[in-house]
Order: sequence, then C-alpha cells, then structure tokens
Amino acid sequence: MSADGVSEAAIDAIMRIMDAAFDPQWGEAWNRSQVASALILSHTHASLLGLDGTLPADPADAVGFAIVRAAPGEEEILLIAVEPGARRRGVGRALIAMLAANARLRGAERLFLEMRENNPARSLYESNGFAPIGRRKNYYRLGDGARMDAITFGLDLTAE
Ligand SMILES: CC(C)(COP(=O)(O)OP(=O)(O)OC[C@H]1O[C@@H](n2cnc3c(N)ncnc32)[C@H](O)[C@@H]1OP(=O)(O)O)[C@@H](O)C(=O)NCCC(=O)NCCS
Repeated sequence: MSADGVSEAAIDAIMRIMDAAFDPQWGEAWNRSQVASALILSHTHASLLGLDGTLPADPADAVGFAIVRAAPGEEEILLIAVEPGARRRGVGRALIAMLAANARLRGAERLFLEMRENNPARSLYESNGFAPIGRRKNYYRLGDGARMDAITFGLDLTAE
C-alpha cells in the first residue's frame, strides 16, 4: 500500500523499519514527529513494501519504506530503508523501481537522492541507473559531531 493519507499504522511501520535500519552513528534516522510532519505535506509521499517486493495489505507486514518529495519535473528520495533481516533480497531495488514509476506518472523527468559518501547503498543506486552529479561538502553531521560529504545522485527518468 502507499502510505499517502498516512494512517497511524503506516507511520508505525515506517518507524519500526527506521529504528531497525539506520545505524545511530550516522545520525540519518528521522523521529516520528519529523515523519508525521513531512507526510502532512501534499507533495511528500511514503511507500511501503513487503518481503515479496509488493505493496503489503497490512502495513505491519512491510519490511521496507521510502519517502519522496515531489517538485515540478523532479522528485527527491528523502529516505529509503529495508529492515536488516530482509536485506539483499531485492526489496531496495523494488522500492527504487516503484519510486521511479510513480515519479514518472506524476510527470517527473529526474529523480534525485543525497547519500553520505561512505554509504554502501551507492552500489544499489549505481546498479539502478543513478549517476553521481554533485558533492556537498560537510553536509552530514555524524552522531559524534564529525562532518561528512554528501554525494548527490540523479536518475534520468526520460531515458527508458
Ligand atoms: C540501502 C538499502 C535500502 C538496500 O536495501 P536492500 O533491500 O538490501 O537492497 P537490494 O536487496 O534490492 O539490493 C540490490 C543490489 O544493490 C546492491 N547493494 C545493496 N545493498 C548493498 C550493500 N550494503 N553493499 C553493497 N551492495 C549493496 C547489490 O548490488 C544488490 O544486489 P545483490 O544483493 O544481488 O548483490 C538497505 O541496505 C538499508 O536500509 N540500509 C540502511 C539505510 C540506508 O542507508 N538507506 C540509504 C540512505 S537514505
């Protein structure tokens, strides 16, 4: 299911996955109030996926989620995560395929995301057609206060 409309059950599922998926040392996870506030906005969309890569009828069965922000002609993946126990089984890839398809349906020509430069998720993005297009110096503040660059990736949605 899409979590747009944002039921409490969908936010519960997002927070369950968020808390399990993000290592606190990177300071990337959002709290419940940040998620709920973001999803009130009409141009911000959440998606949940189950282990079989399809939309679960019950949000409690979701193992992955993503939140995107839409702007005219382009969309940005704000967060994407899969529970540790469900990784390397194609859920992340399925989420990206779904986000790209939904962005195309909304008329977007580009899909962006920002990633801390040492995130192994880079291979997921590059194997799905994203290319690095920029670097933001010291963009992330890590849990210990240190800084790390962000790499901006872009996917051309008009290419296929
Ligand atoms: C990034 C993340 C969403 C990937 O989810 P996933 O369901 O494991 O991804 P998939 O199984 O679809 O991976 C598809 C391919 O991407 C690559 N890949 C995915 N995770 C990888 C990793 N940690 N290291 C190296 N390659 C990786 C591989 O090529 C993989 O194919 P393979 O398993 O056949 O080798 C997940 O690791 C995660 O939640 N990480 C923590 C949160 C995070 O950092 N999110 C991104 C920044 S917001």
